[in-house]
Amino acid sequence: MIVLGIESSCDETAASVVEDGRIVKSNIIASQIEIHRRFGGVVPEVASRNHTMAIVETIERALDEAGLRKQDLDAVAVTKGGGLIGALLVGVSAAKALAYALSIPLIAVNHTMGHIAANYLAYPELEPPYLCLVVSGGHTVIVRAETYTRHSVIASTVDDAIGEAFDKAARKLGLPYPGGPEIDRLAQRGTPSIAFPKPQTGDPSKFSYSGLKTAVVNYLHRLEQNGEKPDLPDVCASFERAACDPLVLATVRAAEAYGIERVALAGGVAANTYLRSALGESCAKRGLSFFVPPPILCTDNAAMIASLGYYNYRDGVGLSDLTLNASSTGEGFF
Ligand code: KG4
Ligand code: ZN
Repeated sequence: MIVLGIESSCDETAASVVEDGRIVKSNIIASQIEIHRRFGGVVPEVASRNHTMAIVETIERALDEAGLRKQDLDAVAVTKGGGLIGALLVGVSAAKALAYALSIPLIAVNHTMGHIAANYLAYPELEPPYLCLVVSGGHTVIVRAETYTRHSVIASTVDDAIGEAFDKAARKLGLPYPGGPEIDRLAQRGTPSIAFPKPQTGDPSKFSYSGLKTAVVNYLHRLEQNGEKPDLPDVCASFERAACDPLVLATVRAAEAYGIERVALAGGVAANTYLRSALGESCAKRGLSFFVPPPILCTDNAAMIASLGYYNYRDGVGLSDLTLNASSTGEGFF
């Protein structure tokens, strides 16, 4: 089954053709990062307009690279939410138009669950059940993937998402948007010498990231008052460990508590060098198998949407008609 995936929830216009939920035939990502960088973050209205300009060409490129025509598609899968509503609507409208014109199924996909499916593209042998730590700009959750389309949440954040914390801390450090990759790069030559508070709450199923951001602000403020300059690599390395270590520990502990031997990582922050190796090592020590997609499939893309679209279709989830609407929260799919 050949599925075209479309993704436009934030600042990447993406289209991809995937066969049987597993084989990536093409994966086109038109990024708007450069456009939003001068604003220090994503400007929703600007994102919507740029999606509108890029969507048709991005879909055509995805078909070209796959060596297919529109008529070869068996279904269209699209991110319904969560994300920026105006941005999402561009992808949803394009998907509706294609499904209508080609008389093929239209499948709605939850963006966060889509991130998890990136693991199916990287590991043809991976099957549920397994545990997945999902870390992005909008989510920080540990889920148990019961089936391809059913997930139960084991732990989550009560406030900011981890990616949001990376981006906000980076902004305070004067680093360009998006801050996550900048912190990653600088941290690699730093020493984790500063004790920032861990994003824990006392309840192992709840994380809290708002205090960590404030701690970075206070730390910088104290240095400034003393007329000192921060050592950016050390701040970044310390921040990364504070942000990631509790998630690593909670994930492997949950795997043990639930008797699950397979642990996956997903979402934009899964591109982080430290987190990938820390969770990988922690799993190896405990004899757990570890799965993580290559960085290009961790950050926003449409291949993950096409993959989950295939499984949604198979399981009768998200099948939609032309009344399909976008949803900023992407509710109802976990
Ligand atoms: O999944 P994603 O592309 O979009 C959302 O669904 O939110 O995640 C974006 C987030 C941003 O906060 C970005 O800074 C972060 O992922 N990110 C990283 C890295 N690459 C992207 N954070 C840390 N290290 C990275 N290498
Ligand atoms: Zn995402």
